Amino acid sequence: MENKIQQLRQAAAEAIESATKNLKELDNVRVQFLGKKGELTTLLRGMSQLSAEDRPRIGKIVNEARAEIEKLLAEKNSELKAKELQNKLAAEKIDVTLPGRKIHQGHLHPLTLTLNRVKDIFIQMGYTVEEGPEVETDYFNFEALNLPKDHPARDMQDSFYITEEILLRTQTSPVQARTMQKNNSNAPIRMIAPGRVYRRDDYDASHSPMFTQVEGLVIDEKITFADLKGTLDFFCKKIFGDSAQIRLRPSFFPFTEPSTEVDVSCVMCKGEDEHCKVCHGSGWLEILGAGMVHPKVLEMSGYDSSKVSGFAFGLGIERIAMLTYGVDDMRLFFDNDIRFLEQF
Ligand code: DAH
Repeated sequence: MENKIQQLRQAAAEAIESATKNLKELDNVRVQFLGKKGELTTLLRGMSQLSAEDRPRIGKIVNEARAEIEKLLAEKNSELKAKELQNKLAAEKIDVTLPGRKIHQGHLHPLTLTLNRVKDIFIQMGYTVEEGPEVETDYFNFEALNLPKDHPARDMQDSFYITEEILLRTQTSPVQARTMQKNNSNAPIRMIAPGRVYRRDDYDASHSPMFTQVEGLVIDEKITFADLKGTLDFFCKKIFGDSAQIRLRPSFFPFTEPSTEVDVSCVMCKGEDEHCKVCHGSGWLEILGAGMVHPKVLEMSGYDSSKVSGFAFGLGIERIAMLTYGVDDMRLFFDNDIRFLEQF
């Protein structure tokens, strides 16, 4: 018995010594000798057959052998663990001198930035921001704005009809009528209505079948053309800089009388370069349409044109963005090429 224990002890020590690959191999050795069915364990079970006086002595030797094997296992275990860590460190070396990966941070689209600037200017002046649907009725898009069916001025805006009575709005002007009609009659209004509009236009450097407008409407007692002019002058100076000047030309819109088109002094050459690519030497750039709200438009939406008057205007956000950022092709705003967008 004693010999057998010595042999086992020797065999275990050798097996532990030669387990150099990994922890798994070492664990197999542990199971082989100390596991439930391991060799030393089996030997211990045989102790019951020993005589009473042999038992304590042999028991002591077995326990010593066991302790010895456990000690060797523990030593080898930490040796192998250290080795594995070493290998891992060598394999997974981090090069802290490598440049980091750039995190791309997004930002608002240039059209949104421009729209926000426009909104802020009017909100400062006490305007509310109204909304209307992009799928609009013929009534609000045209009729309530003094454009009855078959009116020739409808040809100014080639429309996407969905049914005979429903279309994609061609302008934000229908929000004028919607806002008047949701109010009590003659209640003062000072509002803008930003949003997308749709027309059957070509897609080129200065046209798009979808673009963004901001409508403006002010109604109160004694609103005059001078109020309109002062408001637009203030707006243009805020958006284009204090040196910007405006010029009003007579025009026609069915929903305003009188109507005007508004030019701003050239943002590029300030009217000083005969060969300017932006204003072509004229010194002026058309930026919006405006006028005094037509009495019929007031009446149709329940306002009394003998008691109140108003002005209205409509401007294109793409055009303002092109002028303020110096962009010469509107399509760049819709293509959304990241190399373009990153510049804002
Ligand atoms: N709705 C016009 C257009 O899309 C722009 C416009 C002109 C709006 C004059 C107005 C206005 O409110 O008074 O061409």
